[in-house]
Amino acid sequence: MAIERTLAIIKPDAVGRGLTGEILSRIHAAKFHIIVIKTRRLTKKEAEGFYAVHRERPFFEELTAFMSTSKAVVMVLEAENAIAKWRDIMGATDPAKAAPGTIRKELGASIQYNCTHGSDAADTAAFEIGYFFSGSELV
Ligand code: CMP
Repeated sequence: MAIERTLAIIKPDAVGRGLTGEILSRIHAAKFHIIVIKTRRLTKKEAEGFYAVHRERPFFEELTAFMSTSKAVVMVLEAENAIAKWRDIMGATDPAKAAPGTIRKELGASIQYNCTHGSDAADTAAFEIGYFFSGSELV
């Protein structure tokens, strides 16, 4: 298995509910290396650019409004097989369908307020990491 990097976000719903420490402790327990981390309130335009792949979906407006309401925690995680590994720890997008023990099952409130985001493939990870971080932050 290859060492990979993925973009992870602790979304505004989770930050607002005081879940940042709980989610970071799960990241540490899973032995990810946090390459870089910052808190950030996205502008509506930044949220729209980040989720551009979903722009035709009915939830796009609500999603990008929600993602720009207040601060999120944005980070780059590194591990063997990091993309799939972080998605396994998050669980399915819809908390109601997520496996027991996952972040979204245990902490998520709804398909929209699902606490965390993770890149879904190597090409999206490259786009999403570059969206928030520049080269000198990634060494
Ligand atoms: P995320 O993994 O960040 O990717 C897209 C986000 O859109 C998703 O998590 C949810 O927060 C949000 N979303 C809202 N409604 C839906 C839906 N019906 N299907 C998928 N994603 C949704």
